Amino acid sequence: MEKLTKEAEMQMIEEIDALVRRAGRVIRDARPGGDAIHKKQGDANFVTDYDVQIQRELIAGLHKILPEASFFGEEDTEGNSHDTSGWCFYIDPIDGTTNFMFDYHHSCVSVGLSYAGEMLAGFVYNPYVEEMYLAIKGEGAFLNGRKLSLSDVPLNEGIAAFGCARYNADCTEEFFQVIRELFQRSLSIRDRGSAALDLCSIASGNNVCYFEIKLQPYDYAAAALMIEEAGGVITQMDGSPITLDGPCSIAAGTGSAHKELLEIVKERLL
Ligand code: IPD
Ligand code: CA
Ligand code: CA
Repeated sequence: MEKLTKEAEMQMIEEIDALVRRAGRVIRDARPGGDAIHKKQGDANFVTDYDVQIQRELIAGLHKILPEASFFGEEDTEGNSHDTSGWCFYIDPIDGTTNFMFDYHHSCVSVGLSYAGEMLAGFVYNPYVEEMYLAIKGEGAFLNGRKLSLSDVPLNEGIAAFGCARYNADCTEEFFQVIRELFQRSLSIRDRGSAALDLCSIASGNNVCYFEIKLQPYDYAAAALMIEEAGGVITQMDGSPITLDGPCSIAAGTGSAHKELLEIVKERLL
């Protein structure tokens, strides 16, 4: 990792890991009721008091670990600066807020770290099943300490995942044509309500690909490194590199499934 000794890097990884697990326990133990849920801009878009509280705690804790870093987090809290030019943490305090509101037990904390626009580390933690995905640039992707390395499974031999949000309803007709095609060409399709977990599930071999028309860097920064370090591919839907300073479309998968996904998107959507 740039600018840090190996020892300092490992110490930092351990401290962030502990912080992310603590944030996950808040999600796991919470029971969000009516008063804690608030409407955000756009259709079917919500924030709970827990999203805000967890982001505040993560920013405070991460600031102590790396004081030079800025923060690109989902919620509008103090310290959220969206400056990606130097060290930057990408924070989604709860990815899968709608799942969280309805007690689905499928949400996670996602924290990514970049330096000058290059992802260096990613942490995605699902507290309900105590699964910690960790990616370190150049060293690999790990699930609870087990190194992940994906095989080049084609689309017709795996599960195709996708995400869609009512508040990002662009090209809905064309989008679902792509999903219909994925349904017909894969073993099965899923929208499990947490983009970060579905992307990490490519790294661990549960999903063969993932597609969504618009996501924010805090949704995918950590998981993108996970996929790349495990040997998969992640791009925008036209095949161009993903962006870390603003939203973009996400098409990810094993090499073969990603290639086929891009062909389907080109046929049906672009
Ligand atoms: C959402 C989830 C969902 C994806 C949406 C995201 P949030 O994040 O990742 O799976 O389809 O586009 O906005 O709002 O739960 O943090
Ligand atoms: Ca999210
Ligand atoms: Ca969120």
